Amino acid sequence: MTDREQICRKAESFFNDLWMRGDPWELETSNWEHERYACLLAILDRPRYGRVLEIGCGAGTFTRRLAGLADKVLALDVSSEAVARARAAAQSDLKQVEFRVGNIMDYNLREEEPWDLIVMSETVYFLGWLYSFFDVSWLAAEMFEATRPGGQMLLANTQFESGEPLLRPCIIRTYRDLFLNVGYELNAEKILPGVKHGVSLEVLMTLYRKADHPTAGATS
Ligand SMILES: C[S@@+](CC[C@H](N)C(=O)[O-])C[C@H]1O[C@@H](n2cnc3c(N)ncnc32)[C@H](O)[C@@H]1O
Repeated sequence: MTDREQICRKAESFFNDLWMRGDPWELETSNWEHERYACLLAILDRPRYGRVLEIGCGAGTFTRRLAGLADKVLALDVSSEAVARARAAAQSDLKQVEFRVGNIMDYNLREEEPWDLIVMSETVYFLGWLYSFFDVSWLAAEMFEATRPGGQMLLANTQFESGEPLLRPCIIRTYRDLFLNVGYELNAEKILPGVKHGVSLEVLMTLYRKADHPTAGATS
């Protein structure tokens, strides 16, 4: 087995173990998470999107909110447990949503492009935990290429100074800057402060836009 395949197995088993035990981040039940989702929806500035890709959809709590804005949503998660929960929770009338099991690091973004909106919420730091910075940067560049000119990308990540090292603000800001470096332009940004389990934290939400006529290799 290659190193890459081993990492993929680790991701599958780690996230499946979490989802098997229930809703690990209380995404369905926490008032804070509901406030976060409302804020995420509010930053989206278009009445409707054509084709949407959601990376790391979990049990589909945000996907169900996103569905009303989109003609088509592909919601991807590495955990088959999460996807099974998402499918079970989705109303039968959510015909525009396809929940799919898949590791974004092995998914060919160009195969089903172009995307009018790509959403990656509370997921990139897990990629950065398991994969090299080069691999995450390559993914960011592929996401940019697979975004329709004029399309958007929404990145959201919790950050706080003490505690979980994956969520250190200096690291979260690095992911935020990475998507500018691959060519997206800043469309809107918001910091949502909050408290979860007695811990003060904030969510950095960035909406990017791909220019209508992007210049090749735009990095500045
Ligand atoms: C904290 S949850 C976020 C759920 C949702 N996006 C939200 O904001 O509420 C992170 C999700 O990312 C998924 N995930 C982690 N690594 C992934 C990968 N390499 N490919 C696809 N999904 C992944 C996990 O299984 C988990 O469901």
